[in-house]
This record gives sequence, structure tokens and C-alpha cells, in this order.
Amino acid sequence: MPDQINRQVRLKSRPQNVPQAENSDIVSGVCADPRDGQFQVRNEFLSVDPAMRLWVSEAPSYLPPVAINEVMRSFAAGIVTASRHPGYEVGDRVVGMFGWQDFAVSDGSAVQKVRGADLPLSLYLGALGLNGLTAYVGLLDIGDPKPGETVVVSSAAGGVGSCVGQIAKIKGCRSVGITGGHRKVDLCLGEFKYDAAVDYKITADLDSALKEACPRGIDVYFDNTAGAISDAVLRQLNVGGRVICCGRASLPQLYPPPTGPRVEGHLIVKRASMRGFLITDHRQRFDTAVADLEGWVRGGNLRCREDILVGLEQAPGAIAGLYRGDNVGKRVVRVR
Ligand SMILES: NC(=O)c1ccc[n+]([C@@H]2O[C@H](COP(=O)([O-])OP(=O)(O)OC[C@H]3O[C@@H](n4cnc5c(N)ncnc54)[C@H](OP(=O)(O)O)[C@@H]3O)[C@@H](O)[C@H]2O)c1
Repeated sequence: MPDQINRQVRLKSRPQNVPQAENSDIVSGVCADPRDGQFQVRNEFLSVDPAMRLWVSEAPSYLPPVAINEVMRSFAAGIVTASRHPGYEVGDRVVGMFGWQDFAVSDGSAVQKVRGADLPLSLYLGALGLNGLTAYVGLLDIGDPKPGETVVVSSAAGGVGSCVGQIAKIKGCRSVGITGGHRKVDLCLGEFKYDAAVDYKITADLDSALKEACPRGIDVYFDNTAGAISDAVLRQLNVGGRVICCGRASLPQLYPPPTGPRVEGHLIVKRASMRGFLITDHRQRFDTAVADLEGWVRGGNLRCREDILVGLEQAPGAIAGLYRGDNVGKRVVRVR
């Protein structure tokens, strides 16, 4: 078989803050063959995640920073093209940390096989993958929402946020989204079925807008942004409120982090809790969660919006777009 060309997006320089296209290069080489215990996967879709800003920075993190000249770390979904691994066959659909490249070789560590043959592969990076799992575990296991409670979510039209809002509705809650721009507000109300949506970009008084959208106060806050948006939500937390710290997309820099209002007063007076989590610590929940998410997608209760960029060459600039709010729904790159 002739050598296959493997294009890779490699980190060229460490960004000051949000990675830009010029921080990466696309380099072509020859695709590696799998050895015993390994398989080769042809990536079909590459994930674009806000966390990649952290992965290429030297800010304190849960993973070492991507090294200069290393392939960009990312989740990807693809098809097994060669296997010397007893657990994987040619043709298997898989999701894993395969990186921004055409082909990857894996030993199967932290790889998930895609079960739902009837559902699009790209969804297993979004609503049926990292995003849906994060929404499911964060909202249900940590937020513990009760029917009739008000659940507020920031980045409400994004990959994680749109799942949080819809799962909250499935569980009988009032769902309120915070997002940027009238197009996303319309989408939140029309497609993701939020009970109310607030546009933080045009609202002069976020406190009043939230009060109007949440007349019974806020019981659960799924925080994707941190920053000023979250400060406003915390002011309207109900007694016994739960805050799920998922992301910090609104912070202009990760390190040193900007300071803001102190939260202790809210937590004490409202007897509230605030808990951060990383979805990768919850693998024991994945099978149940994916089965539920697949069922909701098939039943039409969980609608998935994807923001698909076409061509590997789109990848280097794709993270910056997330931080401009260009994406509606889960952003992925279709490799070919
Ligand atoms: N803890 C975990 O294990 C875990 C796992 C996955 C994801 N996450 C986090 O979950 C959050 C959502 O991830 P996602 O993949 O679904 O991304 P996403 O919401 O699809 O995209 C990011 C969104 O962030 C918002 N944003 C960007 N800059 C902002 C700013 N300056 N102020 C306010 N909002 C801003 C934009 O939405 P608007 O246009 O609405 O502002 C943008 O669309 C991220 O913070 C991510 O890091 C955490």
C-alpha cells in the first residue's frame, strides 16, 4: 500500500491568550503504521473546544501544555483504517484524543467506540460526546435540579449550554439562557425551547433582565463563562442554590486570573453551594449518559446544532472564533 500523507496542525508559538491561526502550522508527513496492540484511525471530524486555550497556555492546569511543534491536542471522531489491536476492527467508529491531524495511531486508551450506527458521527463530539456528557453530569449529578426549579445557563446556545437548557426542560425545570446576540436568543427560544433568554451583549442592566426572566429566583446556575455574567446571576441565587462551575469563557486572560467580587457572602446568606468539575473524572457515568442522550436525540427532545467548518486548514483559526462567539452550537472541523 502506498504511504499515506498525514497533515498535522502543530503548535508553532505559544499564544499570549486566545490561540490565533498564526500560532499554528500545517505540516505534512507520512502516516505511521500501527504496531502490536495499536490501531490507526482516519479522523473525520476534529473537535474545537474552549479548553484548548488552556491546553496551549502555561497557566496552571490539569494537563501539561502542548509543546511547541507538537500536534494540537484535541478530541476527534474517526474510523479505524488498520488494526493490530484485539479490541478494534477496521471500520469501527471511534472517538478519542486523536489530535488535529488526518490520521492517528492509538493503543485504545480513553477511546470510546460509537454505538449508534444510525446517528451522525460528528454528534459524538457534541451532544452525544464531550458536550452532552458535560451537560448531563454537570446538571444532573452536581446541580441536582428538581421539577419546577429555575435553571440558568450561560453560553446558552453553545455546545454544552444548548444541551443543559434542553435537559433542564426534560427534567421539568424552567430553563433560562444567557447568550450573545439576537440570532442566538431566537435560537434559544425557538429551537432549544428555553422559557426565557437574555442577551448579555445588548442588555444595559443584566440584573433587571435576569429578574424578569427568573421571577422565582435562580435555583441552579450552570456557569460556562464566569466573570460579570456570573456575578449578576449569583446576586439572584435562591436559598439552597447550586452553582456548577464548568467554564470561564468570558475571562479575558487565564493567568494571572482577573479578580472580581467576593462570592462568600452569597454562599453563606443563601446557604448555597458552588462546585467545579472536569468531565473526564466521570467516565463511570458515560455509558448511562450516552444511552439517555441518544434516546433524547432519537425522540426529538434534544436538538443538536453543529457549526461545521470544512477542511483541516480551517482548524488553526477555529478557537479564536469560539471566543468571538462566532459559533452557534458545537464547533467541529470536517477534515475533508
Ligand atoms: N468542566 C468541563 O469538564 C468542561 C468540559 C467541556 C466544556 N467545558 C466548558 O464549557 C463551556 C462551553 O463549552 P462549549 O464547547 O460548549 O463552547 P461553546 O459554548 O459552544 O462556545 C463558547 C461560547 O463562549 C461564549 N463566549 C466567548 N467569549 C465570551 C465572552 N467574552 N463573554 C461571554 N461569553 C463568551 C460564546 O457564546 P455567546 O455568543 O453566547 O457569548 C461562545 O459561543 C466552556 O467554558 C468550556 O471550557 C468544561
